[in-house]
Amino acid sequence: MSTNHFLRRVAKSVLPAAMLNYMRERLRTDLPRHALSYQGVYTQHSMRWLHEGRFAEIHDRHRKLNPFNAPNETRLRQYTACMFAEFSKSIPGDFLSAGISFGIAPRVIYDFVEFERLEKNYHFIDPFLGANYPGQGVNPYNTDFQFVRKQYREDAPVVFHRQLLPDCFPLKGLERGLAFVHLNTTHPAAEAASLQYLYEKLNPGGYILIDSYSFGQGGFDDYDLVIQKIGAKVFSLVTGQGIIQKPLAGDNQPVNA
Ligand SMILES: C[S@@+](CC[C@H](N)C(=O)[O-])C[C@H]1O[C@@H](n2cnc3c(N)ncnc32)[C@H](O)[C@@H]1O
Repeated sequence: MSTNHFLRRVAKSVLPAAMLNYMRERLRTDLPRHALSYQGVYTQHSMRWLHEGRFAEIHDRHRKLNPFNAPNETRLRQYTACMFAEFSKSIPGDFLSAGISFGIAPRVIYDFVEFERLEKNYHFIDPFLGANYPGQGVNPYNTDFQFVRKQYREDAPVVFHRQLLPDCFPLKGLERGLAFVHLNTTHPAAEAASLQYLYEKLNPGGYILIDSYSFGQGGFDDYDLVIQKIGAKVFSLVTGQGIIQKPLAGDNQPVNA
């Protein structure tokens, strides 16, 4: 038995579980020293494809659009967003992102799924007024609409709705319905008030990704009643995001999260 193993067994037998957990957290003994923090998420597993390859290249190209963005702060959340956007590509209907600010997430998604090949429109909702910053101190949200507009060609398939959720609904131009929705306004009440409309517009197989669903203490009080009311199922992710898929016709309803 290694010394390390022996010391762990001794500690386990003499220290109460609560104390042991506290020490584990403080010392992170079960994690490699180099484990990175992805906005509070740590893992002992390989995050190679967040740092190398196509996603990493696209993420790192656009990350600095937001001057406040640290290298790994939103990397895992955006990887997840790209994953569900990719799954939604073949579903009929448009993409929609609410909460744009400097526009990193939609820009990363746009390149990752090669949006211009999809023959869809990408709807962006944000009044660019720096609204609803939930933190303290200087408001870090972008208020310069042109800064985001110029990230896309003049004739790119992007449609800006410079309004607030949920006042912007019904939204113009959603005749084909939606395939993918990304909510990142950091305003759970406004997002929850939009869910029924968005779920109705979502085509079967499409996804709604909610960045504030279980982030921090979670926005359950805002979201869960509505999710239950509309008969949707939400799954909570390690990033603090929640994901809803509208079942395909004939699919078994997924089990509760
Ligand atoms: C966290 S930032 C979005 C970050 C962006 N997704 C990115 O990756 O760069 C949130 C943005 O949503 C905007 N916002 C806040 N409440 C909103 C609402 N009810 N409707 C639309 N946008 C809102 C904020 O003003 C801010 O610009």
